Amino acid sequence: MLRRLHHEQPESFAFTPANLEWAKAQLTKYPEGREASAVIPFLWRAQEQEGWLTKPAIEYVADMLGMAHIRALEVATFYFMFQLQPVGSVAHFQICGTLSCMIMGAEDLIAVAKEKIAPAPHMLSDDGRFSWEEVECLGACANAPMAQVGKDYYEDLTTENFSDLIDRLAAGEVPVPGPQNGRYAAEPLSGLTSLTEYESGRTQYNASVALATELGDTIKRIDGSEVAVTTPWLAGGRKVHVSARKTPVKPKEGEGTTRPAQAPTKAKPLVTSEVLRSTEAKKPRTMDAPRDGGADDLKQIKGVGPKLEAMLHKLGFFHFDQIAKWTETEVAWVDENLEGFKGRVSRDGWVDQARRLSAGQETEFSKKVKKGDVY
Ligand code: FES
Repeated sequence: MLRRLHHEQPESFAFTPANLEWAKAQLTKYPEGREASAVIPFLWRAQEQEGWLTKPAIEYVADMLGMAHIRALEVATFYFMFQLQPVGSVAHFQICGTLSCMIMGAEDLIAVAKEKIAPAPHMLSDDGRFSWEEVECLGACANAPMAQVGKDYYEDLTTENFSDLIDRLAAGEVPVPGPQNGRYAAEPLSGLTSLTEYESGRTQYNASVALATELGDTIKRIDGSEVAVTTPWLAGGRKVHVSARKTPVKPKEGEGTTRPAQAPTKAKPLVTSEVLRSTEAKKPRTMDAPRDGGADDLKQIKGVGPKLEAMLHKLGFFHFDQIAKWTETEVAWVDENLEGFKGRVSRDGWVDQARRLSAGQETEFSKKVKKGDVY
């Protein structure tokens, strides 16, 4: 399938403060110089924030990770988990159309989607709340036919229960994911034939459904309200993040269940006070001009090239000892204000480098700069 960027794009993209905090924490997972490995989770996060993946978001992520824009674009256009055009604000159904699902009725599900949502894939329903597409095997063949909505699988679908699923989502319900025909998981329809002793001890739902229902994140986009320790190796386990529940919009009285006139809602980030504290940004003290003797060579800081050095001068930073004194909140301010290079200060550890340089010490990188090995 040809995957192209949408013809209409927003002007810009930036992570919410909470997502930025999450992103900074994620970067600590990767060794220096390997930050590009975070491209898929970052693009996914951007998609979760906006609902779909925009060109400015792809470029923003590429800039954050020090990648050429085209490299991030290659990733975004390769994987069909990334939506390159607006999708339904409540649910985008990815209906599996591969062998098992096709044999078991995927084409009938697609007919339902065409009738109830929109006549063509990737087309929004009239109210903007639903969309659908056909995708390749999603690995739930034993529960064919099936469809994915966000992070969740709805399995063992029929035209009736799929139609009902759409109606329930449109009515504001959050249907339990997993098999829709009473099966626990992928056991034979007639019941277990082996390991039957485990049947009596099983929980209400299979593990993935149980997790979805316990977390309460079915059809929810991650954008700022969940609080989870995602980086326990950082001091004290940094609690980051944060997302608002993507609750389906209930139709107004008298409106149909699948075509209510209410406009799509945008998930609103709910930032916890803890996250706010950690992402509070404060402008550091600046200077109008360098001291007598001229500015330090800020390019001795790894991650600062001529363009960033000029940008730092413009912001009022000329000396290592200025950067060495930045506090966490001041780093957050500078990170936010480096147009096109957001997040670089914390990503490359400028403050630690500047401390050593201002104390007259060398870093491996500054030695290379002095030797002329860095261009
Ligand atoms: S064929 Fe549909 S999930 Fe594998």
